[in-house]
Amino acid sequence: MVLIRITFLLVVCHVGITYTTSIPRNYEKAKIELEEYIEAKKKDIDLRFKPLYHVAPPVGWMNDPNGFSYHNGEFHLFYQFYPYDSVWGPMHWGHVSSPNLVNWKQLPTALLPEEEQCFSGSAISQEDKLTLMYTGRVAADVDPYFNETQYLAFSDDGINFYKYEGNPVLARAPNGSPEFRDPKVWMYENNYYVVIGSQTTDKRGRVLLYKSSDMKSWEFLSVLGESNGDMGYMWECPDFFELDGKFVLLMSPQGLLPQEDRYKNTHQTGYIIGEFSYHTNEFIHEVSFQEIDFGHDFYAATTTEANGKRYLVAWFSMWDEPHPEDVDGWAGMATIVRELSIVGDRIIMKPVEQIETLRAEILIDSNIEPGQVLEFGKAVEIFINSDISQKLDLLLEGREGDSKVWLRWDPEVGKVVVDRGSSDIRQVEWSPIESQTWRIFLDSSSMELFCGEGEVVFSSRVYALGGWRFTNESNQSLQIKAYDLKRGVPE
Ligand code: FRU
Repeated sequence: MVLIRITFLLVVCHVGITYTTSIPRNYEKAKIELEEYIEAKKKDIDLRFKPLYHVAPPVGWMNDPNGFSYHNGEFHLFYQFYPYDSVWGPMHWGHVSSPNLVNWKQLPTALLPEEEQCFSGSAISQEDKLTLMYTGRVAADVDPYFNETQYLAFSDDGINFYKYEGNPVLARAPNGSPEFRDPKVWMYENNYYVVIGSQTTDKRGRVLLYKSSDMKSWEFLSVLGESNGDMGYMWECPDFFELDGKFVLLMSPQGLLPQEDRYKNTHQTGYIIGEFSYHTNEFIHEVSFQEIDFGHDFYAATTTEANGKRYLVAWFSMWDEPHPEDVDGWAGMATIVRELSIVGDRIIMKPVEQIETLRAEILIDSNIEPGQVLEFGKAVEIFINSDISQKLDLLLEGREGDSKVWLRWDPEVGKVVVDRGSSDIRQVEWSPIESQTWRIFLDSSSMELFCGEGEVVFSSRVYALGGWRFTNESNQSLQIKAYDLKRGVPE
């Protein structure tokens, strides 16, 4: 097919990358029509469960966060996006930006599918240029009828993205596996590195490491991690970074079997801590895989680094589970951003500090007695101090109904429990490393519980109609401080 192309060619050089792109006119037209469609369609969205401070699509479906980056003084967050229905479909990249990781602005859709679906990937900021590396999933003639290849797109203004003419830049996994996706790119000493999720020939998940001087031709270096058979059949959305003197391989394995309290979701997200050398390209695993969040709805987490801090965001939904908001014209959202650090042999996650700027008024700052009920708005932050040598039992539910969640602590068992009723339970051991406070973030359809310093975190979707009702079902009185939170995302 001959594409009518706008004739200007962009040739850009910086730190070793030279791009030549041209912009097909019909692609530009499709972008404009898409934004018009989104604007028109937004009016049909029922806002009852739409978050006030979590990133969600304006209309339609979102899954993984992509391209999380800090560029020209702003954070950029993209996401897997299907605008035309509230179910997964041909993948676009939605786009928001923020000065502080809590106030988000909607930007035009960054990538539209053409011959390729725009699967997950990452971004790298260099001077004024923001470059995206993502998986182009293309149809193939033979079983399994798809192939996953790596594509580039770049932008000079952080808003409009042009696909690279020489795509794909990485056409095949070393073993030819069609499962080859979700590149996470970074720079180290004038070279680009990328990790990509893939599969061995006998269908074990693995993460591949590559290096390049220009992002266009890539050299395969090593396998950073691989399932030994019981760690799943595919490792999606890898990320690899230095944190507190260690290296962390974060990824989302598919196919782990549930083991007691662990691996209860359709798929998991977790990490391996170890040592890595850029000379040998070997990642020596020191602490084996552990989940990073124990809630019901947390997947495809990804990170970025800015000002010496490592920030994480994840998809706040789960594959193959109901998404009750889909009848309202949208589905899926992102978690609040968390800051990571390593304590001992685990990662702890704290809500990003700037989230305090969302606080409006203090709703309560006092003791509440057993049986006492509090009523809140849709977006609330709650601190709970209790005597953790005694049981703790809280009920959170919509003031006008819909779902409920119980948060419990039993000192004899030593576990925190998040119970959505009907045996839909997630639980995990908690031994506070310092603080014994629980910090809870509630939005119109979500609950995030940070225990202590963030050594145990649960992210679970809970659908609260008409704001939140909080009941102290414990036998002890609790010290509660709660804030109403302001809107941080567009409607
Ligand atoms: C993870 C994932 C990725 C893929 C994307 C497709 O949730 O399956 O591996 O790139 O979603 O939307």
